[in-house]
Amino acid sequence: MNKKEIKKIGVMTGGGDCPGLNAVIAAVAKTAVTKYGLEVVGIKNGYRGLYLGEKQIVRLDAAEVGNIIARGGTILYNSNKDNLFKYPRRDKNGIIKGADGKPIYDNLSQVAVDNLNRMGIDALVIIGGDGTLTSGRDFARMGVPVIGVPKTIDNDLNLTDTTFGFDTAVSRCVEAIKCINTTGLAHHRIMVLEVMGREAGHIALTTGIASAADVILIPEIAYDIEKVAAKAKAALKSERQYGLIVVAEGVSLPTGGKTGVETDLSPDGFKFKGAGDAVAEAVQDILNNNRDENGYAISDTIMDVEARCTVLGHVQRGGTPTAYDRILCARYGKKAVEALMDDGKVSDMVALRGGKLVTVPLEDVIPSNDMHSNFRPVDVNGELMELARTLGISFGDR
Ligand code: F6P
Repeated sequence: MNKKEIKKIGVMTGGGDCPGLNAVIAAVAKTAVTKYGLEVVGIKNGYRGLYLGEKQIVRLDAAEVGNIIARGGTILYNSNKDNLFKYPRRDKNGIIKGADGKPIYDNLSQVAVDNLNRMGIDALVIIGGDGTLTSGRDFARMGVPVIGVPKTIDNDLNLTDTTFGFDTAVSRCVEAIKCINTTGLAHHRIMVLEVMGREAGHIALTTGIASAADVILIPEIAYDIEKVAAKAKAALKSERQYGLIVVAEGVSLPTGGKTGVETDLSPDGFKFKGAGDAVAEAVQDILNNNRDENGYAISDTIMDVEARCTVLGHVQRGGTPTAYDRILCARYGKKAVEALMDDGKVSDMVALRGGKLVTVPLEDVIPSNDMHSNFRPVDVNGELMELARTLGISFGDR
């Protein structure tokens, strides 16, 4: 696509959904229409919509997006498996596999660029996480003006202090723990909460600190399950007689190795599953296999230890965004249009750095073609980690 005046922009959401998507869409549309007099269209169903063309396009005017700032999900729908640069070929049996058992892929990106040209869409606002923005970067390389907006509950995008949706996800986890605590306390149990985040532990770390967890397990720190059990035992022996462990879904099993299921339905071929349950079971076994001479695992009121896991799952991702996220989304959406129109940014992402709204090059946000290396893990020497340790929270460090 050649450099030309921007009169019409397309906005789309990609990847897993995230609280605040609608708030960004609304801010983009309102800023574009009222401040710049642009035409704005929404592209439904992520990159799939870009491939399918006209029938996936909806006009977005200020009235259309008038009252959606608080609405969860996305009015444009999401897809997290439509990488047009590497699109699995299908027939009536589903995804076609080659002799090596792996899907056969096609590059369909030029169809999308041709569609954009035909539909007169001059620039794209792409709201997404690392996977979606990898394609955003690649469309920008093909000459499509692109501005990314950093979305993901996982908070693991490079070069921004925070992604939108993270605050809502953490708030939801903290809210759930309030309930988990009362039932756990009533039974003197060890309660484990497994939270999302893929290979990054931001949700677990922040939730754990905010909930005074005894132990937080994150993928960035290898843990020793004996140490986790020792901390759980100390919690049960304390006056509170209760222990809380927050586990990030991406941690290894107590015996080592990642836990989840291989699937063609995920762009990276893997869905995390089972870490929290495995930790709960292992802690319970260790404590019940080390009893005193009376046969008590802990005391005369806690003769046997029960460790139970709750997997919060998509509850973290659904529903209405917090006020913080709504404002952040509105700021991101407005800045995205301003970056395109005033600053001439055509291959960038809006970001929050040191509390200030800025833009950063997509090439720096997504520096690699290896999708597993483009994320921002927890800084294990960072301030939050130090805070947690100072507050007496264990990471079960090996
Ligand atoms: O990246 C966001 C996220 O919610 C992760 O935390 C989680 O592992 C994944 O998406 C779940 O995706 P899906 O809904 O496709 O299983």
